Amino acid sequence: MEKELGLLDKIVSLSKRRGFIYQGSEIYGGLGGTWDYGPLGVTLKNNIKNFWWKKFVDDREDMYGVDAAIIMNPAVWVSSGHVNTFTDPLVECVKCKRRFRADHISDGKPARPGDTGRSGGCPECGGKVGDPRQFNMMFKTSVGPVDDTSSVSYLRPETAGGIFTNFKNVVDTFHPKMPFGIAQIGKAFRNEITPKDFIFRSREFEQMEIEYFIKGEGWEAHFEDWRKSVLEFADEIGLDKDKVSELNVAKEDLAHYSKKTIDFEFEFPFGKKELYGLAYRTDHDLKSHMNGSGTDLTYFEESTGERFLPHVIEPSLGVDRTVLAILTSAYTEDTLGEGTRVFLKLKPKIAPVKAAVFPLMKNKPELVDKAREIYKSLKTKIPQVMFDDNGNVGKRYRRQDEIGTPFCITVDFQTLEDNTVTLRDRDSGKQERILATELNDLILNKIT
Ligand code: GAP
Repeated sequence: MEKELGLLDKIVSLSKRRGFIYQGSEIYGGLGGTWDYGPLGVTLKNNIKNFWWKKFVDDREDMYGVDAAIIMNPAVWVSSGHVNTFTDPLVECVKCKRRFRADHISDGKPARPGDTGRSGGCPECGGKVGDPRQFNMMFKTSVGPVDDTSSVSYLRPETAGGIFTNFKNVVDTFHPKMPFGIAQIGKAFRNEITPKDFIFRSREFEQMEIEYFIKGEGWEAHFEDWRKSVLEFADEIGLDKDKVSELNVAKEDLAHYSKKTIDFEFEFPFGKKELYGLAYRTDHDLKSHMNGSGTDLTYFEESTGERFLPHVIEPSLGVDRTVLAILTSAYTEDTLGEGTRVFLKLKPKIAPVKAAVFPLMKNKPELVDKAREIYKSLKTKIPQVMFDDNGNVGKRYRRQDEIGTPFCITVDFQTLEDNTVTLRDRDSGKQERILATELNDLILNKIT
């Protein structure tokens, strides 16, 4: 337990030190449950999102992407059930007045929206806590210049809402054949009572969601396809297979409209917790939005002449939890050369820096010029390349290892004679001499 807690501290510290993730609004003392991604963090996150988008949208014929507004007509969240039931049980300590999620201080089980929760003593001062009351997690805002109840709206608590509201638009403009999916990546906001565990539970985060529309019958096969695809994605981006597991949500815990839900869990440094969700939600969502909006959302299938309300399978993936699971999987310590080395064993396609180019010595203009020439040529093909001439080469290797750069290229005096460079592999630390003209293809090959 001690060791595992240490790992989270190490990841948080590396993230800040090397520009992956900073505390939100840090110079003002921060804002609870918010995090800012720095230069390396935003690139890592973009690599994850781009890989997801390519795999699930660009490389398929049955997927349509959308980018819907974050602030939606509040009626959307009435139909989806969020206004009435997207609540967590909140308790307040009578002594120190701190507030907690009731289920976080009782048996430790995560709550599902609508739980009443059971409460133990205050985790801060041991005082008595009051009875739980339901706290809605949506962030309220007002739209337009008049701040009254008629202008109330919400920051979306999930991206799914903007997918369902565009179902008819996509059908009308593209006439997709069943089955097909609509995908969206974007921010979601939840006023979590106790944001915690670094970026695991925050108040502003990103989701990658798909609503895959099917005819009700035969849903089991689609569900199984998506189950495999989610696991495949996790493996392809470099999540440690041994840390990923599936939890079949028990029948009695399922929402009334869901026939099957799997939580994909990950062994985070603070324990096994939900990473992603996969749910068969029947035709509940389109039915609710059809009733709420008064717009016909049925689908007409030309080949069979049938008109029906599609059902959905929903794979819902959190971007930030993916980042944390990747960092947990990749963080490695070994003893290469002198002392302990810390490195991130990131998959090359996900790593924020694919290769770093060094001149052996900073004070030899001919080496610096040659290194810059190689760096510029690489950068036209592979944008995530870095030039580094700070400190000695050994230190540069350590710095690149720590941010997960898979390849380091050193330009030395031999380069000036035969145009060869040393190419160092992050994981083994081994170096080989190769022609500078072969670098582009070799690195491209490893990252695609
Ligand atoms: N549309 C379904 C939906 O939103 P969810 O289980 O509430 O389902 C899906 O959320 C995913 O979003 C989670 O599996 C997790 O990866 C991510 N997520 C949810 N709440 C989060 C939070 N407070 N901070 C970071 N990620 C979160």
